[in-house]
Amino acid sequence: MAPDGIFIRPAEDGDRRSLAELLAAVAAERDGIAAEPPVDVDRLAARWEIDGTLVAVAEGVVVGEVRVDPSWMGFAEIGMMVAAGWRGRGAGTALVAAAVDWARARGLHKLALSVFPHNDAAIALYRKFGFVEEGRLVQHVRRSDGELWDLIEMGLQL
Ligand SMILES: CC(C)(COP(=O)(O)OP(=O)(O)OC[C@H]1O[C@@H](n2cnc3c(N)ncnc32)[C@H](O)[C@@H]1OP(=O)(O)O)[C@@H](O)C(=O)NCCC(=O)NCCS
Repeated sequence: MAPDGIFIRPAEDGDRRSLAELLAAVAAERDGIAAEPPVDVDRLAARWEIDGTLVAVAEGVVVGEVRVDPSWMGFAEIGMMVAAGWRGRGAGTALVAAAVDWARARGLHKLALSVFPHNDAAIALYRKFGFVEEGRLVQHVRRSDGELWDLIEMGLQL
């Protein structure tokens, strides 16, 4: 159990809509994740990969998620988000800890992720777990307004 009554569990089929709505809300911030509006919530809910998704639940509601996507090469890529109203209360920390456990339990040797350079909260969270910067993809992501954003690649040896 994380602080503030937040707990982590594997995602279930019944979480699909909550997960898609969470992503749509975070996409609307146009800041931390690559997705931007419009998000087709129905389509996303139907296609969400439940296996490898862990959710943070508080007050009976999904308030965050991390998705661990293993490759056949032994590493897994992760992506995550916490609902704006629940940030700064330990949900992100609990999700990364659970993702590390999930990956170790499956014999994976490394977690990898991409993060925008301005995303101080996410970078601080990943560094706290020992992730290190491994490279920078320059002007990699074209935003809907035409801006080109860099991505920092980070990795954690398990
Ligand atoms: C990044 C994110 C997942 C962090 O989730 P969170 O629940 O706020 O994380 P926590 O409360 O566990 O805080 C984790 C650490 O982040 C750091 N942190 C949190 N908020 C911060 C901020 N505003 N600025 C700098 N560092 C911050 C702290 O080091 C904190 O650790 P500490 O409490 O031990 O000092 C959340 O901000 C988020 O969902 N952002 C939008 C989506 C996104 O950016 N996803 C990641 C894409 S790579």
